[in-house]
Amino acid sequence: MTIDTIRSAFFDVMKKNGHHIVPSSSLVPLNDPTTLFTGSGMQSMIPYLLGEKHPLGKRIANSQKSFRSQDIEEVGDNRHTTFFEMLGNWSLGDYFKEEQIDHVWDFLINKIKLDPTRIYVSCYSGNTNFNIPTDTVSEKRWCDLFSKVKLQALSSKNPEQDGMKEGVKIFFYEDKKNWWSRSGEPAHMPVGEPGGADTEMFYDFDPVNAHQVHERSDFKNQKCHPNCDCGRFLEIGNSVFMEYVKTNDGIAALPQRNVDFGGGLERLVCAVENTADIFSTSTFAEAKKIILENVPSHITYKTHTTYMRIILDHVRAAVFLIGDGVLPGKSAQQYFVRRLLRRSMVAANAMQTEGECLVKIADIFIQQYADSYDTLKKQKEHIVRVIADEEKNFTRTLSEGLKKYKQYQVGGMTNENAFDLYQTYGFPLEVIFELAELDGVALDKKIILNMKEQHSLSSRTASQGMFKGGLADTSAETTALHTVTHLLLAGLRSEVSEEIHQAGCNITHERIRFDFTFKEKLTDEQVRAVENYVNNALQKGFQTHILTMSKQKALDLSVEGSFWEKYPDEVTVYELVGNDGTVYSRELCGGPHINNCNEVKTKNGAIPTFVITKQEASSQGIRRVKAVLQ
Ligand code: ALA
Repeated sequence: MTIDTIRSAFFDVMKKNGHHIVPSSSLVPLNDPTTLFTGSGMQSMIPYLLGEKHPLGKRIANSQKSFRSQDIEEVGDNRHTTFFEMLGNWSLGDYFKEEQIDHVWDFLINKIKLDPTRIYVSCYSGNTNFNIPTDTVSEKRWCDLFSKVKLQALSSKNPEQDGMKEGVKIFFYEDKKNWWSRSGEPAHMPVGEPGGADTEMFYDFDPVNAHQVHERSDFKNQKCHPNCDCGRFLEIGNSVFMEYVKTNDGIAALPQRNVDFGGGLERLVCAVENTADIFSTSTFAEAKKIILENVPSHITYKTHTTYMRIILDHVRAAVFLIGDGVLPGKSAQQYFVRRLLRRSMVAANAMQTEGECLVKIADIFIQQYADSYDTLKKQKEHIVRVIADEEKNFTRTLSEGLKKYKQYQVGGMTNENAFDLYQTYGFPLEVIFELAELDGVALDKKIILNMKEQHSLSSRTASQGMFKGGLADTSAETTALHTVTHLLLAGLRSEVSEEIHQAGCNITHERIRFDFTFKEKLTDEQVRAVENYVNNALQKGFQTHILTMSKQKALDLSVEGSFWEKYPDEVTVYELVGNDGTVYSRELCGGPHINNCNEVKTKNGAIPTFVITKQEASSQGIRRVKAVLQ
């Protein structure tokens, strides 16, 4: 079985059960300003989940092209990809839990012949705050199905503590694992957002050597369970029972009970082929062959695993994105295509590939997917041309990056320089660490990885909220305005209200656009006061300090930040401190920032004036200001 036959097998099961198979929608959502890319099949189904009538009825299925930009940084391990196909089926107010679990069982066990001894499932343990019950209906159905194939299926209410126990097949988890909405757990859902409990299926790749064979040796001394992430288990499907909606008072029932199933097709191939490494499945075999034909013979998948995985994932993702009309460039979506191709080229360079290797790999993926995705067939020449051009252009940047690396090295390479190479020149951190190690340069990996973590958090937020936290580029002007934005927020909090927090921002080299939580229009006096706050700091002068500290310490210091729960235990804090010791701003951030106020100068070297040029309502409870330096 291959990716194509597994896809068809899924469609067969769904057709047999009365579903209409619809084509995949574009990776670029058409009428959805809340997200940059299609990251799950349900995105285009929202109106129907909320109750609108679907023209094709109540039973729909498809295989959806999906791209998760937030996973770029994760690519390199055995299971993360940015692009993937998500098999999906929906009941729009029709069948519910039991029938859905039967469909999934039929597909996994009867059609693609997965061994039921290798299948484990999870169910929702409920949430008393929101009055949502434990999902005993799914539990019972799974138990019945397992017993039909003579397998005992006991339940564990405490997987983290109990680990794997003889006969246990069903694991109960709370909100974080077994509740699904586009914004996560019930407490994080905005009003109007639909969601529900889910039941997930996992495949066990290694019943014998739990924690041993995979890449996560750090899990060796922990209890293993389906969600422990050690690499033994892989989630291969998720049935969401979408029956709730967030309201002002909590969680209420939707007018209809829906099912929203998502199954990662590439992961299903892993299960069928019984290999825990997505990049070692048949899906990537041809492309891998091409890479290996174009590198020196001592370079293999084993010696250069991370690089090869990056190339395989990123080129395939770029092919599909370009096929859906996204060119490499500077806008939010285009930036990701560029980033994918650049990271691939750095990886290819590290593997000493010959000639235009990316184009050859792209060609293989186009051929492989052309029958399933018509757009690729039609756009073949265009896709290849775009990749070839980008490959040619970036070769120059790449050598500039290497030059920059050498320059930094001469001046004494710092952690900030290393991060800049990563962020501005698109060098993967592994390459930087490797070069540094070869050259005997001491870098603090922990600090740099922390900066990266926080940077990816802000880009994640950017891609979720379209423009939250975003810098348009990392030019000197934009970076300076980013630092001034910290002053702006501090000014708003100091002069207007402590209740104010950042809700989003978008900074170009010309202006700041800043959204913040506040209900009323700012008065003229308040606008003046905020401007004065910023101008005072610019005139008196300040230095930027980058501090790394525990999250608790940052909270104790009243460091300003949003989404605290998403940050790692150790955080990076940017402090703007005046020459007289005044702390103008102390904020959680991943940078980049200027080093001191001398870098904010007009063309003729004068201190610029900060001016708020516009204010308006952005959305409910959120105000927006635009500001410039004159
Ligand atoms: N919408 C669900 C998911 O993305 C199925 O996992």
